[in-house]
Amino acid sequence: MEKPKIFIANPVPEDVEEFLKGSCECVKWDFRYPKTLEGILENIRDVDGVIQVGMKIDDRILDSAPRLKVVSNISVGYNNYDLDAMKRRGIIGTNTPGVLDNTVSDLILGLILNSARRIPELNRFTKSGSWVKADNSDLFGKDIHGSSLGIIGMGRIGEKVARRAKLGFGMDVSYYNRGRKLEVEEELGIVYRPMEEILKISDFVLLMTPLTPETTHLVGEKELKLMKASAFLINASRGQVVDEKALIKALEEGWIAGAGLDVYEKEPIDADNPLLRLQNAVTVPHIGSATTKTRDEMAWAAAKALVDELYGKNSGMRVPELS
Ligand code: DGY
Repeated sequence: MEKPKIFIANPVPEDVEEFLKGSCECVKWDFRYPKTLEGILENIRDVDGVIQVGMKIDDRILDSAPRLKVVSNISVGYNNYDLDAMKRRGIIGTNTPGVLDNTVSDLILGLILNSARRIPELNRFTKSGSWVKADNSDLFGKDIHGSSLGIIGMGRIGEKVARRAKLGFGMDVSYYNRGRKLEVEEELGIVYRPMEEILKISDFVLLMTPLTPETTHLVGEKELKLMKASAFLINASRGQVVDEKALIKALEEGWIAGAGLDVYEKEPIDADNPLLRLQNAVTVPHIGSATTKTRDEMAWAAAKALVDELYGKNSGMRVPELS
Protein backbone atom coordinates (compact mmCIF):
# COMPACT_ATOMS: atom_id res chain seq x y z
CA MET A 1 0.00 0.00 0.00
CA GLU A 2 1.24 3.46 -0.88
CA LYS A 3 1.97 5.52 2.23
CA PRO A 4 -0.62 8.20 2.91
CA LYS A 5 0.64 11.76 2.54
CA ILE A 6 0.28 14.23 5.38
CA PHE A 7 0.91 17.91 6.04
CA ILE A 8 2.52 18.81 9.38
CA ALA A 9 1.22 22.32 9.89
CA ASN A 10 2.60 22.90 13.40
CA PRO A 11 5.89 21.82 14.92
CA VAL A 12 5.90 18.43 16.66
CA PRO A 13 8.74 16.88 18.70
CA GLU A 14 11.43 15.13 16.66
CA ASP A 15 10.48 11.62 17.81
CA VAL A 16 6.85 12.28 16.88
CA GLU A 17 7.93 13.45 13.45
CA GLU A 18 10.04 10.29 13.03
CA PHE A 19 7.02 8.19 14.00
CA LEU A 20 4.88 9.99 11.40
CA LYS A 21 7.57 9.50 8.76
CA GLY A 22 7.50 5.76 9.46
CA SER A 23 3.92 5.49 8.26
CA CYS A 24 3.37 8.55 6.08
CA GLU A 25 4.95 10.66 3.41
CA CYS A 26 5.35 13.96 5.23
CA VAL A 27 5.48 17.55 4.06
CA LYS A 28 5.83 20.21 6.70
CA TRP A 29 5.60 23.95 6.91
CA ASP A 30 8.93 25.80 7.06
CA PHE A 31 8.48 27.03 10.61
CA ARG A 32 11.00 29.84 10.20
CA TYR A 33 8.20 31.69 8.41
CA PRO A 34 4.67 32.62 9.50
CA LYS A 35 1.96 30.59 7.83
CA THR A 36 0.05 32.10 4.91
CA LEU A 37 -3.24 30.93 3.46
CA GLU A 38 -1.73 30.53 -0.02
CA GLY A 39 1.09 28.42 1.44
CA ILE A 40 -1.33 26.21 3.34
CA LEU A 41 -3.55 25.70 0.28
CA GLU A 42 -0.49 24.78 -1.74
CA ASN A 43 0.63 22.24 0.87
CA ILE A 44 -2.72 20.52 1.39
CA ARG A 45 -3.59 20.14 -2.28
CA ASP A 46 -2.66 16.41 -2.44
CA VAL A 47 -2.56 15.25 1.18
CA ASP A 48 -4.64 12.59 2.93
CA GLY A 49 -4.13 13.96 6.42
CA VAL A 50 -3.21 17.09 8.35
CA ILE A 51 -1.82 17.43 11.88
CA GLN A 52 -2.14 20.91 13.27
CA VAL A 53 -3.39 23.38 15.89
CA GLY A 54 -6.15 25.91 15.47
CA MET A 55 -6.35 26.14 11.66
CA LYS A 56 -9.92 26.78 10.55
CA ILE A 57 -10.99 23.65 8.65
CA ASP A 58 -13.75 25.06 6.49
CA ASP A 59 -15.00 24.92 2.88
CA ARG A 60 -12.11 27.04 1.67
CA ILE A 61 -9.56 24.55 3.00
CA LEU A 62 -11.57 21.46 2.16
CA ASP A 63 -12.24 22.56 -1.43
CA SER A 64 -8.48 22.79 -1.91
CA ALA A 65 -7.76 19.36 -0.47
CA PRO A 66 -9.77 16.82 -2.49
CA ARG A 67 -7.86 13.83 -1.07
CA LEU A 68 -8.14 14.87 2.56
CA LYS A 69 -9.60 12.23 4.87
CA VAL A 70 -8.40 13.04 8.39
CA VAL A 71 -7.59 16.22 10.33
CA SER A 72 -5.87 15.73 13.67
CA ASN A 73 -5.92 18.62 16.14
CA ILE A 74 -3.10 18.85 18.67
CA SER A 75 -5.61 20.35 21.11
CA VAL A 76 -8.69 19.36 23.01
CA GLY A 77 -10.69 22.30 21.63
CA TYR A 78 -12.05 21.78 18.12
CA ASN A 79 -13.97 24.97 17.46
CA ASN A 80 -11.65 25.33 14.44
CA TYR A 81 -13.58 22.48 12.79
CA ASP A 82 -16.46 23.53 10.58
CA LEU A 83 -18.38 20.42 11.55
CA ASP A 84 -21.00 20.72 8.79
CA ALA A 85 -18.41 21.18 6.06
CA MET A 86 -16.41 18.21 7.35
CA LYS A 87 -19.48 16.02 7.81
CA ARG A 88 -20.66 16.74 4.25
CA ARG A 89 -17.37 15.40 2.92
CA GLY A 90 -17.01 12.54 5.39
CA ILE A 91 -13.80 14.00 6.85
CA ILE A 92 -12.72 12.58 10.19
CA GLY A 93 -11.63 15.07 12.85
CA THR A 94 -9.75 14.06 16.00
CA ASN A 95 -8.61 15.91 19.13
CA THR A 96 -6.58 15.20 22.26
CA PRO A 97 -8.83 15.09 25.31
CA GLY A 98 -7.59 13.85 28.67
CA VAL A 99 -3.82 14.28 28.50
CA LEU A 100 -3.96 18.01 29.23
CA ASP A 101 -6.63 18.16 31.94
CA ASN A 102 -4.30 18.43 34.94
CA THR A 103 -1.98 20.91 33.23
CA VAL A 104 -4.79 23.26 32.24
CA SER A 105 -6.30 22.96 35.71
CA ASP A 106 -2.99 23.93 37.30
CA LEU A 107 -2.87 27.06 35.15
CA ILE A 108 -6.42 27.99 36.12
CA LEU A 109 -5.52 27.91 39.81
CA GLY A 110 -2.54 30.06 38.85
CA LEU A 111 -4.83 32.59 37.17
CA ILE A 112 -7.06 32.68 40.25
CA LEU A 113 -4.09 33.22 42.58
CA ASN A 114 -2.39 35.74 40.33
CA SER A 115 -5.54 37.81 39.89
CA ALA A 116 -6.66 37.75 43.50
CA ARG A 117 -3.23 38.32 45.06
CA ARG A 118 -2.12 40.70 42.29
CA ILE A 119 1.11 38.76 41.78
CA PRO A 120 2.11 40.09 38.30
CA GLU A 121 1.34 43.67 39.30
CA LEU A 122 3.25 43.39 42.58
CA ASN A 123 6.13 41.60 40.91
CA ARG A 124 6.50 44.65 38.65
CA PHE A 125 6.14 46.90 41.70
CA THR A 126 8.93 45.16 43.63
CA LYS A 127 11.33 44.94 40.70
CA SER A 128 10.86 48.60 39.83
CA GLY A 129 12.15 49.59 43.28
CA SER A 130 8.78 51.00 44.35
CA TRP A 131 8.71 49.04 47.63
CA VAL A 132 9.96 51.79 49.88
CA LYS A 133 7.64 51.68 52.90
CA ALA A 134 6.57 48.99 55.33
CA ASP A 135 2.92 50.03 55.41
CA ASN A 136 1.52 48.25 52.37
CA SER A 137 -2.26 48.24 52.79
CA ASP A 138 -2.61 49.50 49.21
CA LEU A 139 -1.08 46.20 48.06
CA PHE A 140 -3.71 44.00 49.72
CA GLY A 141 -5.46 41.37 47.65
CA LYS A 142 -8.29 38.92 48.13
CA ASP A 143 -8.17 35.56 49.91
CA ILE A 144 -8.62 32.40 47.87
CA HIS A 145 -9.25 30.03 50.78
CA GLY A 146 -12.81 30.18 51.99
CA SER A 147 -13.99 32.17 48.96
CA SER A 148 -16.49 30.92 46.40
CA LEU A 149 -15.75 29.58 42.95
CA GLY A 150 -18.44 29.16 40.31
CA ILE A 151 -17.50 26.96 37.36
CA ILE A 152 -19.48 27.42 34.16
CA GLY A 153 -18.85 24.33 32.01
CA MET A 154 -18.15 21.23 34.08
CA GLY A 155 -16.21 18.96 31.75
CA ARG A 156 -13.11 16.99 32.68
CA ILE A 157 -11.04 20.13 33.30
CA GLY A 158 -13.80 21.75 35.33
CA GLU A 159 -13.84 18.68 37.57
CA LYS A 160 -10.07 18.82 38.10
CA VAL A 161 -10.31 22.50 39.00
CA ALA A 162 -13.17 21.79 41.41
CA ARG A 163 -11.08 19.15 43.14
CA ARG A 164 -8.09 21.47 43.53
CA ALA A 165 -10.25 24.38 44.67
CA LYS A 166 -12.29 22.39 47.16
CA LEU A 167 -9.69 20.03 48.60
CA GLY A 168 -6.60 22.21 48.17
CA PHE A 169 -7.92 25.67 48.97
CA GLY A 170 -11.10 25.00 50.90
CA MET A 171 -13.12 27.00 48.40
CA ASP A 172 -16.87 26.82 48.27
CA VAL A 173 -17.46 25.42 44.76
CA SER A 174 -20.62 25.52 42.69
CA TYR A 175 -21.07 24.80 39.00
CA TYR A 176 -23.36 25.18 36.05
CA ASN A 177 -23.39 22.65 33.22
CA ARG A 178 -25.85 21.40 30.62
CA GLY A 179 -26.04 18.09 32.49
CA ARG A 180 -25.65 17.62 36.22
CA LYS A 181 -22.70 15.61 37.58
CA LEU A 182 -24.26 13.96 40.59
CA GLU A 183 -21.27 11.74 41.37
CA VAL A 184 -18.90 14.71 41.38
CA GLU A 185 -21.33 16.71 43.51
CA GLU A 186 -21.43 13.93 46.03
CA GLU A 187 -17.73 13.13 46.01
CA LEU A 188 -16.49 16.70 46.31
CA GLY A 189 -19.42 18.34 48.07
CA ILE A 190 -19.99 20.86 45.31
CA VAL A 191 -23.33 22.38 44.36
CA TYR A 192 -25.18 22.74 41.05
CA ARG A 193 -26.71 26.19 40.47
CA PRO A 194 -28.28 28.03 37.52
CA MET A 195 -25.80 30.20 35.65
CA GLU A 196 -27.39 33.46 36.77
CA GLU A 197 -27.02 32.49 40.40
CA ILE A 198 -23.38 31.49 39.86
CA LEU A 199 -22.68 34.91 38.37
CA LYS A 200 -24.38 36.70 41.27
CA ILE A 201 -22.81 34.86 44.21
CA SER A 202 -19.31 33.77 43.15
CA ASP A 203 -16.06 35.47 44.15
CA PHE A 204 -14.46 33.80 41.15
CA VAL A 205 -16.37 32.84 38.00
CA LEU A 206 -14.51 30.37 35.81
CA LEU A 207 -15.51 29.84 32.18
CA MET A 208 -14.68 26.36 30.90
CA THR A 209 -17.31 25.77 28.20
CA PRO A 210 -16.31 24.63 24.73
CA LEU A 211 -16.86 27.30 22.07
CA THR A 212 -20.04 26.60 20.11
CA PRO A 213 -22.65 28.87 18.52
CA GLU A 214 -24.57 28.63 21.84
CA THR A 215 -21.61 29.66 24.00
CA THR A 216 -20.35 32.49 21.79
CA HIS A 217 -20.55 35.67 23.92
CA LEU A 218 -22.17 33.65 26.69
CA VAL A 219 -20.84 36.34 29.03
CA GLY A 220 -21.50 39.90 27.93
CA GLU A 221 -22.54 43.18 29.52
CA LYS A 222 -25.68 41.76 31.17
CA GLU A 223 -23.83 38.84 32.75
CA LEU A 224 -20.85 40.95 33.87
CA LYS A 225 -23.24 43.35 35.55
CA LEU A 226 -24.72 40.47 37.53
CA MET A 227 -21.31 39.72 39.05
CA LYS A 228 -20.18 41.22 42.35
CA ALA A 229 -17.94 44.29 42.13
CA SER A 230 -15.41 42.33 44.19
CA ALA A 231 -15.48 39.29 41.86
CA PHE A 232 -13.01 38.01 39.28
CA LEU A 233 -13.70 36.45 35.89
CA ILE A 234 -11.33 33.66 34.86
CA ASN A 235 -11.35 32.43 31.26
CA ALA A 236 -9.27 29.50 30.03
CA SER A 237 -11.76 28.16 27.47
CA ARG A 238 -11.98 30.29 24.32
CA GLY A 239 -11.86 34.07 24.03
CA GLN A 240 -15.10 34.25 22.07
CA VAL A 241 -17.07 32.88 25.04
CA VAL A 242 -16.77 36.43 26.46
CA ASP A 243 -17.76 39.65 24.74
CA GLU A 244 -14.31 41.21 25.10
CA LYS A 245 -15.49 44.79 24.58
CA ALA A 246 -17.94 44.38 27.47
CA LEU A 247 -15.21 42.81 29.61
CA ILE A 248 -12.86 45.74 28.99
CA LYS A 249 -15.63 48.13 30.02
CA ALA A 250 -16.34 46.05 33.12
CA LEU A 251 -12.67 46.16 34.14
CA GLU A 252 -12.27 49.85 33.37
CA GLU A 253 -15.45 50.90 35.14
CA GLY A 254 -15.15 48.54 38.11
CA TRP A 255 -18.24 46.39 37.52
CA ILE A 256 -15.93 43.54 38.55
CA ALA A 257 -12.59 43.54 40.41
CA GLY A 258 -10.45 41.77 37.85
CA ALA A 259 -9.93 39.05 35.29
CA GLY A 260 -7.47 36.22 34.73
CA LEU A 261 -7.26 35.44 31.03
CA ASP A 262 -5.53 32.75 29.00
CA VAL A 263 -7.63 33.29 25.86
CA TYR A 264 -8.79 36.22 23.72
CA GLU A 265 -11.20 36.97 20.91
CA LYS A 266 -8.20 37.46 18.61
CA GLU A 267 -5.03 35.40 19.08
CA PRO A 268 -2.28 36.43 19.16
CA ILE A 269 -3.75 39.46 20.94
CA ASP A 270 -3.19 42.86 19.27
CA ALA A 271 -0.51 44.94 20.99
CA ASP A 272 -2.98 47.82 21.42
CA ASN A 273 -5.72 45.70 23.03
CA PRO A 274 -6.79 47.65 26.18
CA LEU A 275 -6.60 44.41 28.21
CA LEU A 276 -2.83 44.69 28.02
CA ARG A 277 -2.72 48.03 29.81
CA LEU A 278 -5.31 47.19 32.45
CA GLN A 279 -3.64 46.49 35.79
CA ASN A 280 -6.62 44.38 36.93
CA ALA A 281 -6.38 41.98 33.99
CA VAL A 282 -3.84 39.16 34.30
CA THR A 283 -3.05 38.15 30.74
CA VAL A 284 -1.12 35.08 29.61
CA PRO A 285 -0.71 33.90 25.99
CA HIS A 286 -2.97 30.82 25.72
CA ILE A 287 -0.61 28.59 27.70
CA GLY A 288 -3.20 26.34 29.37
CA SER A 289 -1.59 23.12 28.16
CA ALA A 290 1.87 24.54 27.57
CA THR A 291 4.24 22.36 29.55
CA THR A 292 6.89 20.32 27.79
CA LYS A 293 5.51 17.00 29.01
CA THR A 294 1.88 17.71 28.21
CA ARG A 295 2.55 19.23 24.79
CA ASP A 296 4.69 16.19 24.03
CA GLU A 297 1.87 13.85 25.06
CA MET A 298 -0.62 15.85 23.02
CA ALA A 299 1.58 15.65 19.92
CA TRP A 300 1.94 11.88 20.39
CA ALA A 301 -1.81 11.44 20.87
CA ALA A 302 -2.57 13.51 17.76
CA ALA A 303 0.05 11.71 15.64
CA LYS A 304 -1.15 8.25 16.67
CA ALA A 305 -4.77 9.21 16.03
CA LEU A 306 -3.86 10.48 12.56
CA VAL A 307 -1.95 7.35 11.60
CA ASP A 308 -4.64 5.03 12.99
CA GLU A 309 -7.39 6.80 11.08
CA LEU A 310 -5.40 6.96 7.84
CA TYR A 311 -4.85 3.19 8.06
CA GLY A 312 -8.57 2.56 8.58
CA LYS A 313 -8.52 2.02 12.33
CA ASN A 314 -10.82 3.96 14.66
CA SER A 315 -8.41 5.85 16.90
CA GLY A 316 -11.01 6.41 19.60
CA MET A 317 -10.06 10.10 19.37
CA ARG A 318 -12.71 11.27 16.91
CA VAL A 319 -14.65 14.32 18.03
CA PRO A 320 -18.20 13.17 18.85
CA GLU A 321 -19.88 15.13 16.02
CA LEU A 322 -17.65 13.47 13.40
CA SER A 323 -17.53 9.90 14.64
C1 DGY B 1 -6.79 23.19 23.91
O1 DGY B 1 -6.02 22.22 23.76
O2 DGY B 1 -7.82 23.30 23.23
C2 DGY B 1 -6.53 24.22 24.96
O3 DGY B 1 -6.85 25.49 24.49
C3 DGY B 1 -5.14 24.17 25.51
O4 DGY B 1 -4.85 25.26 26.32
